[in-house]
This record gives sequence, C-alpha cells and structure tokens, in this order.
Amino acid sequence: MTIQEIQKEIIRLKKEKEFCILAHAYQGQEILEIADYTGDSYGLSVQAAKDSRKHVLMCGVRFMAETCKVLSPEKRVYLANPSAGCPMAEQLDLETLRNLKKEHPGYMTVAYINTTSELKTECDVCVTSSSAVKICKNLDTDKILFIPDPNLGHYVSSQIPEKQFAFYTGGCPRHLIMTEEDVKKAKAAHPDALFLVHPECRPEVVAQADYVGSTTGIMDYARKSAAKEFIIGTENSIVEHLQFECPKKRFYPLSVMLTCMNMKVTTLMDVYHVLNGTGGEEMILPKPVMEGASRCIRRMIELGG
Ligand code: 13P
Ligand code: SF4
Repeated sequence: MTIQEIQKEIIRLKKEKEFCILAHAYQGQEILEIADYTGDSYGLSVQAAKDSRKHVLMCGVRFMAETCKVLSPEKRVYLANPSAGCPMAEQLDLETLRNLKKEHPGYMTVAYINTTSELKTECDVCVTSSSAVKICKNLDTDKILFIPDPNLGHYVSSQIPEKQFAFYTGGCPRHLIMTEEDVKKAKAAHPDALFLVHPECRPEVVAQADYVGSTTGIMDYARKSAAKEFIIGTENSIVEHLQFECPKKRFYPLSVMLTCMNMKVTTLMDVYHVLNGTGGEEMILPKPVMEGASRCIRRMIELGG
C-alpha cells in the first residue's frame, strides 16, 4: 500500500468506527494529514474533552493519552504506539515528589503536563508550556514548587519576578542538550533569521530568542511574522510543517539533534492498526489516579482559560 492508500483507509475507518484522531505537532506530516486536531499539548487536551465521538486515538506520547482519558473517562482512549513515552514525564516518582514537598512547606506544587497521571494526583495544578505563565500568575500563592522541568520553570519565574520558585533537576533530554554554541553557529549561518525557541531549552539559549513559546505559539508566530527566515529551537518536525505551510519563508533547525525519537516512534501503520483493532494500547487508569489527576488537569483548564 502507498502512504496515500493507507491514509484513505484510515479516514474511512475512523468515520465508520467513530474515532477522533489527535496528533501532537511533533508528529510527521503524513500523520497530521489524517488527524482531526493537531496542536500543542494544551490544545489537544482541550479538544479531546470537547469532542463528542466515542473513541480517541492519540498520536503523541503516553502522558498525552493519559490526559485525554482523565478528561474523558466515558470514552475509550488509545495510544497509537505503546512504546511512545516521554522521558521527562517519567523522571520523577511519587516518593521523590513527596520528599520535595516536605522540603518546601508552604509552596504550591505546579506540575508541567509532561508528568504521569499518578504524579499529578499529588500536585495542586498542572500547566503546559503555553499556559504556564498565566496559570502561575493567577495562582493564589507567592511560593511555587515547579516540577519536573527547571528550564520551563526558570522561564516562567523570569516572567513573574514577584513570586518565589523552587525547582527539580529534570528536563527534556532533547531540548536540554542545546547550547549557546548551537545558537551562535545557527545565527552565524543565517544572520537574517529570527530565533524562535521552546522554553524547555536552557535559560542561556532562551535568553537569545526573538520569541519564546509552545509549539503552537512558535508556529503561529512564524505564520504571522513579516520576517522571511527563522531558526527553530524546538523539535524538528516543526521546521518541516512550517516549511510546507509557508513555502515562501525559510526555516532552519537549531540543531539536527533536536529530534524526539519518542514522538517519532509512532507511524501511520500504528494508526491503521489501532483502527482495525490489531494494535495500540487502551488507556486504563485506576479510579484514584483518574480522580486525583482530573482535579489537577481541570484546574489547569479553569485557570488557563
Ligand atoms: P507543547 O506544550 O509545546 O506541546 O510541548 C510538549 C512537549 O513535549 C515539548 O517537548
Ligand atoms: Fe518529552 Fe522532550 Fe520528547 Fe517533548 S521533546 S515529548 S518533553 S522527550
């Protein structure tokens, strides 16, 4: 079968079986083309809750499928490829979190959405890269324990200097390896390009950006900007998608190393196998985890607007 033939069959099957397909923007172009919604992790979680179809298929990583299940307990939610996990989401376990909380009495615990549902049960609210500043600003506290990504945490704290932040020492293994040297090289190669960066990068990388935002934020900025060239400081699929959408502009990766293999493990055939009942993994979470994580994620949606 060709890619187009598989896509046609997927579109037929998803209508027949009432599936809503969600794809994170880090997925390949051939997957975005068959999805009902694409976007950043915040957008996907909101869309999943609104959609009326009985089944949801997540093309992304495990914490994203868990988030959909928590927000739509009545639906059957599937992760397209069961081995697609986010290493950042699995960095912190419950015991370490409990110890961190003990070391920070009087702090509210804010979890990046890139965490397991189990961990969210012990946090006050979760945030995404696009909603973190707004939510932390609106939280009724001046002391925030931000887990697990200190880079996103530092960026948020730089926007809200009046609040006190404490961090964990985690981070995204992809964005973390970007250095000032990578930025210097990319800017030297493309001196007229604007530099757009995801806040999961280190503070010294973020400090050199013309724009800082989530994957959707970066894409919107590049679409609307009058500039013609951009260096993209996030996962390299964004370079590809923007190049398709804006053929008259030029997009350059900050580094070839910015490829998330955890996101890339999902293929079009994985999607096809879920729809014909021969693949994927249905998300089943224990009741206390569903209830605890739901409080944390719904608070994000309330405060994030
Ligand atoms: P977004 O919130 O921008 O979708 O980021 C998710 C992610 O995993 C970035 O590495
Ligand atoms: Fe996780 Fe980083 Fe991949 Fe995002 S880019 S899914 S944070 S490993």
